[in-house]
Amino acid sequence: MQEYIKQTKTGSRKYKSFVRADFLVEMTGRVCYHIDIIFKKEIVMIWKDKYRLGVAEIDKQHMELFRRVNDFVVTLRSKGSWQEKVDKVNDTLQFMQEYVVIHFKAEEAYQLKIGYTGYEHHKKLHDDMVAYVTEVAEEYEREGYKEELIQRFAGKLLAWLINHVVAEDLKIAQYTIHKEEQK
Ligand SMILES: [Fe+2]
Repeated sequence: MQEYIKQTKTGSRKYKSFVRADFLVEMTGRVCYHIDIIFKKEIVMIWKDKYRLGVAEIDKQHMELFRRVNDFVVTLRSKGSWQEKVDKVNDTLQFMQEYVVIHFKAEEAYQLKIGYTGYEHHKKLHDDMVAYVTEVAEEYEREGYKEELIQRFAGKLLAWLINHVVAEDLKIAQYTIHKEEQK
């Protein structure tokens, strides 16, 4: 069992968990502030209202992404059968390849609509993520279920999603507020 210390604004809290080390590597720095790690209840990511952009379609998509990534990580960590895990990997890879593209397009369309100045930078982050998911899907197809690849993928999804929503997507909401204030 590992002991994991989460820094909070009011100090630090200790979590005991069975989480693999490679997940922890990803959960460093500011990511820790935003993830509720309640290992005993097998919840890895909890959606919070403060993550809302205030755009219904995008918020709904973010919630779905949180739900799917959480489900993926929990299944990988469970005592379920190998087949159950393989099914979940297939399912998640397919979902990510399709849904992430739909979601990114919706978010980018919104940025263009409001004249968001960080559009180019943001689009590059999206494109890089799509390329990463494609890369993993290709490797998975070539080499099959490899524990190291799947765990790395799960860790990356978890960290990327929370970090991206909090550090990048919320900037879009701040931009909208700033624009409204200047009117
Ligand atoms: Fe985004």
